[in-house]
Amino acid sequence: MFDPDKLTYLDKSVDRRVCFITGGNSGLGFFTVLHLYLHGYIVYIAGRSKQRVDSAIRQLKDEALVRRAKETPEVLQFRHLGELKFIELDLSKLRSVEHAVKQFKTREKHLNLLILNAGIMAVPYSVTKDGFEIQLQINYVSHFLIADRLIGMMDTSDDVRDPRIIYLSSVGHRFADFHFNLSWEFNHMPNIVFTWFRYGMAKTAGIHMVKSLAKRHPKVLCVAVHPGFVMNTNLFSHFTRLPFFGFLFWVLFQLFGSFFGVTNEEGSYSTLRCLEEDLSTEKDNGKYFATFGVEQKPSSVATNENYADESWAWTVSELSRRGYETDRTS
Ligand SMILES: NC(=O)c1ccc[n+]([C@@H]2O[C@H](COP(=O)([O-])OP(=O)(O)OC[C@H]3O[C@@H](n4cnc5c(N)ncnc54)[C@H](OP(=O)(O)O)[C@@H]3O)[C@@H](O)[C@H]2O)c1
Repeated sequence: MFDPDKLTYLDKSVDRRVCFITGGNSGLGFFTVLHLYLHGYIVYIAGRSKQRVDSAIRQLKDEALVRRAKETPEVLQFRHLGELKFIELDLSKLRSVEHAVKQFKTREKHLNLLILNAGIMAVPYSVTKDGFEIQLQINYVSHFLIADRLIGMMDTSDDVRDPRIIYLSSVGHRFADFHFNLSWEFNHMPNIVFTWFRYGMAKTAGIHMVKSLAKRHPKVLCVAVHPGFVMNTNLFSHFTRLPFFGFLFWVLFQLFGSFFGVTNEEGSYSTLRCLEEDLSTEKDNGKYFATFGVEQKPSSVATNENYADESWAWTVSELSRRGYETDRTS
């Protein structure tokens, strides 16, 4: 099993590493941030609610104190806490993405770690103000725009140590193997079936993005992960909050989780494993890691280079139509 203690503990006065993470206030993102903070990273938690992120920051600081209280002074002298900061970001609005990126750039000169973690799953069909199906925009398109805007802070200078991008995909990306076409919104009934195709498509496009970024930016290690089945995060709340059926779904998810699931903290391990020093751009760029960070081969559609190129071209063109110019190199 992966052990977060194996990761390097940083002293920010000599090695200041900056992380930008989306959705770090809840679920497995919360524990990802906790371990980064315990390991000395400067973490920008990009979220849509300042109140929720501030409350998470308070809980993270308390939890860090509890964990450090279990260590001896000898151990603690080599373990320095990082910093936790809030950046406002609503992934359902491209304008908010641009604004968050601008804010970040006024505060930092370089970026070591970009974790594209936020997501929604299996919600009813709807279209954002930018005109994308909502799961596609939040899980993929907005993250594509963030990566495009921030990667320049990661790979231009040799001062940026060990730059990495980690995208939270899902085993659910495999739903897109039935049919992959980003222009097809799967707006059909019943939602409980077709919503999974929309989720799968977004998470497959995310894996394509990672592969394409790895090709275009060989100095930045870009990987995708599936965190495992983490049944106690807010990801399932659309189902568990349904009137009457919500409780049944909750019971079902708990049962499923008790056989196949991992805890919220263990859900962060696949992401954290991708920070280990044995991974390198030469041998691991574009790879996919599943529960506890075990390397896996993603679906055939996700692996297919032609599909990856098509996803890139489609996204660049759709963003351009909306006034957002991104990397057009093929
Ligand atoms: N849980 C699992 O079993 C599982 C399995 C496979 C993959 N994943 C992936 O893992 C990632 C984390 O999921 P989780 O289980 O930890 O779920 P979660 O607890 O619901 O966390 C999702 C995070 O995304 C944020 N978010 C949602 N919509 C947003 C928006 N419009 N703008 C900015 N942030 C937004 C949420 O912020 P708010 O608090 O403001 O809503 C929250 O911080 C997701 O990408 C998910 O698809 C999870």
